[in-house]
Amino acid sequence: MNRDAPFDFSALLRTPLTEALGCRYPIVQTAMGWVADANLVIATTRAGGFGFLAGATIEAHRLEGEIRNVIAATGGTNFGLNFHMFQENAAQCVDLAIQYKLRAVSYGRGPDKKTIARFKQAGVLCIPTVGALKHAVKAVELGADMITIQGGEGGGHTGGVPTTILLPQVLDAVKVPVIAAGGYSTGRGLAAALAAGAAGIAMGTRFLMSTDAPTPRATLERYVAVDDPQKIRVTLAVDGMRHRMIDNPFIRRLEAAGPLGRLAIALKSAWAWKAQTGMSVGHMLGVLRQAIREDAGAVSQTVMSANQPVLLQRSMVEGRPDEGILPSGQVAAAIGELQSCDELIRGVAVEAEACFARLYSRLDAPVTSTAA
Ligand SMILES: Cc1cc2nc3c(=O)[nH]c(=O)nc-3n(C[C@H](O)[C@H](O)[C@H](O)COP(=O)(O)O)c2cc1C
Repeated sequence: MNRDAPFDFSALLRTPLTEALGCRYPIVQTAMGWVADANLVIATTRAGGFGFLAGATIEAHRLEGEIRNVIAATGGTNFGLNFHMFQENAAQCVDLAIQYKLRAVSYGRGPDKKTIARFKQAGVLCIPTVGALKHAVKAVELGADMITIQGGEGGGHTGGVPTTILLPQVLDAVKVPVIAAGGYSTGRGLAAALAAGAAGIAMGTRFLMSTDAPTPRATLERYVAVDDPQKIRVTLAVDGMRHRMIDNPFIRRLEAAGPLGRLAIALKSAWAWKAQTGMSVGHMLGVLRQAIREDAGAVSQTVMSANQPVLLQRSMVEGRPDEGILPSGQVAAAIGELQSCDELIRGVAVEAEACFARLYSRLDAPVTSTAA
């Protein structure tokens, strides 16, 4: 290497992720229910990142319009769609991603091999998010083109393994590019992930805490105010799965309620969700009868899980942060202000380059190595 020539550190930000996804920076804006709408994805794309639309909460009749909005504003299909196979309109999400030849799809519990083969045929990259090593290996066996690992400090549904442990484990175990998620908000984090071998980082909470997110001010203020990572905790009370969110009166009430109390809370929100989904009264009463006869705890979980869009909607759309859930990564406690997607993406890139430059400058200092 010619050490006298100026070194272009931005070259280190070109990775298999930027190559495959066609974006300038190896920075992904993940899908977040009621948050990752067309405007957020447009702002991310324009700033040089790669954004995913939250297909799990965009109503079926609006989904195609949202996709078209991003295409019209960005002039291309370099963005992705997130969905879950258990959602009612999963087939619609699959069909639209293929029809519009979106660059990528992301998902948790994923599609089968046949559906993945359809994506591949259309050139849509499959990028599942996993929270454990065995799930990463399985996802690659099923045909994933890249993997996003999410460490336990990440927001929303999350595993129990920290990013610093999960990332190297998965990098050792798979051959596809790996994107690191869970706890990222800075250029230092991006530089560290790239140095470890990741192809880039993905961030949820940092993009939620942006001026481009549609989230009401009253709710965003809760995210900005929280400064103790311990107050952004995991609860099983919502749907029986590990779900990381900001502590608030709603989840405390949910946790304190017994199985029947939880069922009552779940049914109350089901009533609100019914108006949007067309769930029939007969169906709701059937669930209640079954609960009383069988296991009230398990049924309340099922109802609650189906109701998550409503619990999220109260805080994320209606601006009532104490009456719904506030999914968040622990990193919210380290973020003190809202930034635009442009500011935050550029800031992360510039800081990562500065990290590389600092490391590089150390080569000029006399080094005594203790390594063998
Ligand atoms: C408010 C919020 C909503 C989320 N909703 C979804 C979702 O609908 N689908 C999904 O796959 N992940 C969802 N997640 C998880 C994120 O996509 C992402 O994986 C996670 O936030 C990464 O960790 P970080 O918050 O530390 O950046 C959500 C996270 C948050 C904070």
